[in-house]
Amino acid sequence: MNAIESHIVVIFGGSGDLTKRKLIPAMYDLYRKSLLPKDFVVLGVGRTSFSDESYRNHLQQGLETYSKISETESADFLSHCYYVSSEFQSKSGIPAFIEKIRDLDLRYSTKGNFIFYLSTPPSLYKPISENLGESGVSRPSANFPGWKRLIVEKPFGINTETAIALNTDLQAHFDEEQIFRIDHYLGKETAQNILVTRFFNTVFEPLWNRNHIHHVEITAAEREGVGSRGGYYDSSGALRDMLQNHLLQLVALMAMEPPTNFSSQAIRNEILKVFESLRPLSLESLERQVVRGQYTGATIKGETHNAYTQEPGVPEQSKTETFVALKFFIDNWRWGGVPFFVRTGKNLPTRVSEIVITFKHIPHPVFIKNASGQEFKNQLIIRIQPDEGIMMRFGMKVPGIGFDVESTNMHFKYADHGKTDIPSAYERLLFDCMNGDASLFTRADAVELAWKFVQPILDEWENNPDFPLYGYPVGSWGPKAAIDLKKAYGEWRSPCKNLTNSDTYCEL
Ligand code: BG6
Repeated sequence: MNAIESHIVVIFGGSGDLTKRKLIPAMYDLYRKSLLPKDFVVLGVGRTSFSDESYRNHLQQGLETYSKISETESADFLSHCYYVSSEFQSKSGIPAFIEKIRDLDLRYSTKGNFIFYLSTPPSLYKPISENLGESGVSRPSANFPGWKRLIVEKPFGINTETAIALNTDLQAHFDEEQIFRIDHYLGKETAQNILVTRFFNTVFEPLWNRNHIHHVEITAAEREGVGSRGGYYDSSGALRDMLQNHLLQLVALMAMEPPTNFSSQAIRNEILKVFESLRPLSLESLERQVVRGQYTGATIKGETHNAYTQEPGVPEQSKTETFVALKFFIDNWRWGGVPFFVRTGKNLPTRVSEIVITFKHIPHPVFIKNASGQEFKNQLIIRIQPDEGIMMRFGMKVPGIGFDVESTNMHFKYADHGKTDIPSAYERLLFDCMNGDASLFTRADAVELAWKFVQPILDEWENNPDFPLYGYPVGSWGPKAAIDLKKAYGEWRSPCKNLTNSDTYCEL
């Protein structure tokens, strides 16, 4: 890998929560591992008024809270951080910004290499990119000759139409190769390990198809409710917030064909083909294949939990879903006829994300049944978080007379390999962008197809007031209808098994 060239990371929304909580701690981790160039610069841009000095104090507080770093440890890193108070979404904000970036570019010899990170409300993506274009910093110029990259935070649109419009707006000032759309699930170590598991080993790939796989299920459960984000969340909901992006990306990694090489183009071409093969959800299929839910209040261990509609910022009559489960098919040679089930929700019993691949039953039973008397199927479980790792479920003879079989697990955990310092998704993604590697960022065409796939659900929910919205109590695994959705293929695997996370309602 080539050394990263000196550059400036400009964060629009530099005084915001994401910067303090995720971006600066991720940059600090890169710095600590000597992965940043000597002359790196972070330039926060925001409306809040900060001097460079007070901005550094503000970031320091974030580091102390989210990275547990003392002032002396972080002093050198923070000396590279600057701030300009600018309403950059309006033309009047341009001069102050340009003056500051020119000054830093000269001082640090960054040669016009800039990353622009849009960490603002999405309504500002268009005006900011427009102003970058108009002020001549979105593409190489005589003043700023180096590379320019634009990182865009989610949400990328709220439906197909707005996603297409946003692509058009951004592409008016940046070429597609310059645009890095973040889906932090792709930055997760274990999500990337899906590719290595599949395409480095020989044992899995021959089985990875409709001939051997019975069905696939993906769960992304969150233990927390919407908390103080009710205002934002109510205009989003679980389908937009988690399924359209994070879960479909996991589906793509799990289902794609081997890329011809490891270039971002080759990988993203294969991801696109998965999205192209998603069987469109017909109007008639929606009630059979989609379940939505909203959490209701509960008292757990003496503690009272709000219903979703009692959360701050959420209208009392809200019909926004905090849970969604979906059954769908991928119509191609590899996956023809194999059902995929995904579910995600807030206020479920625990925080866990995993992919479960259930293999077909043996063709002819030699051993009548396993010790528990249940039909047995092998499963491969890819745990995205927590307890990152991979588990294989298989049958083993119970020691003693007879041939009773018990199901058991072979379990690889990252932690067992001393790999406890797993880089955060943002650390990985920022680093890749600095290197110009877009493999783990979503491409315009894929984002649009992912929206197209969920669009019939969004339309139906908007137009049909009778589409069921089931309640589910805080701390449960979602509505019964979601359990029933999968029944014909066996129960959802309980992710509580083999979980060391103690902060759970698993035992309820
Ligand atoms: C974000 C969603 O994209 O992902 C949040 O907006 C959600 O609502 C979060 O909580 C989940 O991410 P993770 O990494 O905690 O699984």
